[in-house]
Amino acid sequence: MNRQPTHHSTQSHLTASLTAYLEDLQESGVDGMPLELLSPAETEPTPKRAAPPEQESRIEINEQLNTPEIHETLEQIRKNLGPCQRCKLGATRKNLVFGVGNPKARLVFVGEGPGADEDAQGEPFVGDAGKMLNRIIAAMELKREDVYICNVVKCRPPQNRPPESDEVSACMPFLLRQIQSVRPEAIVALGTSAAHAILQTKVPISKLRGKFHDFHGIPLMPTYHPSYLLRTGGNSDSFWSVWDDMTQVLQLLKLPVPDKSRKK
Ligand code: URA
Repeated sequence: MNRQPTHHSTQSHLTASLTAYLEDLQESGVDGMPLELLSPAETEPTPKRAAPPEQESRIEINEQLNTPEIHETLEQIRKNLGPCQRCKLGATRKNLVFGVGNPKARLVFVGEGPGADEDAQGEPFVGDAGKMLNRIIAAMELKREDVYICNVVKCRPPQNRPPESDEVSACMPFLLRQIQSVRPEAIVALGTSAAHAILQTKVPISKLRGKFHDFHGIPLMPTYHPSYLLRTGGNSDSFWSVWDDMTQVLQLLKLPVPDKSRKK
């Protein structure tokens, strides 16, 4: 999958906004903010956003995330994450599951969080849901190595419960940094938890899916989680809804849309 030329506009406004956001997180006790990567001029105390308190940690959705000034490699971000204990999931995980795939992917898939297989192997989407995701990727005539795959939270929630808001808040800066590093042209949010955490909404996935949402200037398509497809069966309506969503993603990326016809 060849990367198309992407547009990088001047980013001083974003840099100031990102600095303020990282400072807010650092002040609220979240470690690992890459403030040192901003130039000295950019790390001058930044005026705080005049947002009400409940919005302070909210990600500013309409900002362009592609910031050449603070480009980090995925390796640097992983190193900065270290043996993370920033939230309570650190105490119970076996392996931190950072992400896998092409560091320059045009397309990023974001799931909810590692399950038991992922926790054991340290790689996202390697269990049954991963096999279903592989089928989706193959149906798009892409390879797993073409895309980048990660999760909202990097450590397995006990009993595979959805990640809690403090866990999402602790991990979100790292997801943002991964996306900023890869600079994809499109993102797919897999399932309710991922879509809700990323888009900061509680709108049901059935209403969110099927159209692109803006995530820091990057088109984001929410779709059903592969585990949901496993539960609803191979030729179900939900499967075809996901295929409709992936068709839109392929069209956005100007990639061929394979002809798949629904079995009667
Ligand atoms: N489900 C997810 O959301 N992520 C994984 O990595 C595996 C299953």
